[in-house]
Amino acid sequence: NPVPVITIDGPTASGKGTVAHKVADRLGFHYLDSGALYRLAALSALRRGADLNDEHALAKLAEHLPVRFDGPVIMLANENVTEAIRAEEVGNLASKIAALPAVRQALFALQLGFRKAPGLVADGRDMGTVIFPHAKLKVFLTASTEARAQRRYKQLIDKGISANMEDLLSDLKARDDRDTHRAIAPLVPAEGAHLLDTSNMTADQAIAEVLSWYAHRA
Ligand code: C5P
Repeated sequence: NPVPVITIDGPTASGKGTVAHKVADRLGFHYLDSGALYRLAALSALRRGADLNDEHALAKLAEHLPVRFDGPVIMLANENVTEAIRAEEVGNLASKIAALPAVRQALFALQLGFRKAPGLVADGRDMGTVIFPHAKLKVFLTASTEARAQRRYKQLIDKGISANMEDLLSDLKARDDRDTHRAIAPLVPAEGAHLLDTSNMTADQAIAEVLSWYAHRA
């Protein structure tokens, strides 16, 4: 497949969403927020009252997600869920069901479908390791737990949502632990990935670095 892909993987709140989105804008590429798909599967399970221990029922929901991407707006069936999928509760459930092989399998083809000309920037946990292993450029974005908790805190406060730093830190650590240690598609840097620690970087600096790597790729 000649359509170029840039993968940006990393832990929760590492800034990969912002960086990936802006890099896609600057290159005129499509953008895949793969975490949103796991969040949609989680929200769908909550809305339908699915049995959260029934892997196959969850996989069925994931495979037939009635999702529509309308620019920045995400519709699930007839509901605008753009905001709802960002709730901490949904993120935590997403990380739980993301550990289920059948759910990951169900979302596989959907993700490949985002690869369209002139190119794709895909962010998530396993974009470079599993979904697009032949990507032109792979980036692994990290930041210290404290820096990530600070960012998440600021995002929530800016949205008028109350937040507690200690809860955020312990949620982040629990989610990191689950994402890094699960048996299937764990969060690890892909072979050949460029590592970028954004703890002391602005988003603009991180974006510039990724664009420069892409411009100078082999
Ligand atoms: O990136 P985001 O926080 O939106 O992702 C929500 C959850 O979905 C993550 O904690 C992770 O468990 C899961 N996920 C995944 N693989 C991806 C993207 C997200 O397992 N490619």
